[in-house]
Amino acid sequence: MLSPTLQDALNEQMKNEFFSAYLYMAMSGYFESEDLPGFASWMRIQALEEMTHGEKFFHFISDAAGRTDFRGFDAPRNDYSSPLEVLEYGLNHEKFVTERIGNLMDIAKEENNHAAQIMLQWFVTEQVEEEASFSLIIRQLQRVEGDGRGLLMLDQELGQRTFVPPAAG
Ligand code: FEO
Repeated sequence: MLSPTLQDALNEQMKNEFFSAYLYMAMSGYFESEDLPGFASWMRIQALEEMTHGEKFFHFISDAAGRTDFRGFDAPRNDYSSPLEVLEYGLNHEKFVTERIGNLMDIAKEENNHAAQIMLQWFVTEQVEEEASFSLIIRQLQRVEGDGRGLLMLDQELGQRTFVPPAAG
């Protein structure tokens, strides 16, 4: 069973994860408009990952005999002034998600909900990777600043990313 407080917080985070997918699809659209198909593809794969994150919350809430509650969210940002600005915005968004996961973990601990803590542990680790991947691309973009050829090479490299569904759990 889930307490009303934990159920509400889990539903809120399910929304945040699905919103993340929507945000990264919007970023993909920006990169398509900038003729950077590799960045665009990377962002779509990021969006696919976020869908699986939202699904993890969906299944956990349902399996714990809770009730899913789908909430609306505002439109994501569509326009940016540069690839660097996109990635910086994405990193800030991931930091927000990390903070929310931390708050959720605090609630699960206060309530002694061990199952929720184990489920959330996966997200704690995942967030370290999420922030690291955005940070790496930011540093690479800073290095190639003003170098069109370098940007295209980075675009090609990012286009190699493939979608790997996360392990169940
Ligand atoms: Fe699911 Fe990127 O946080």
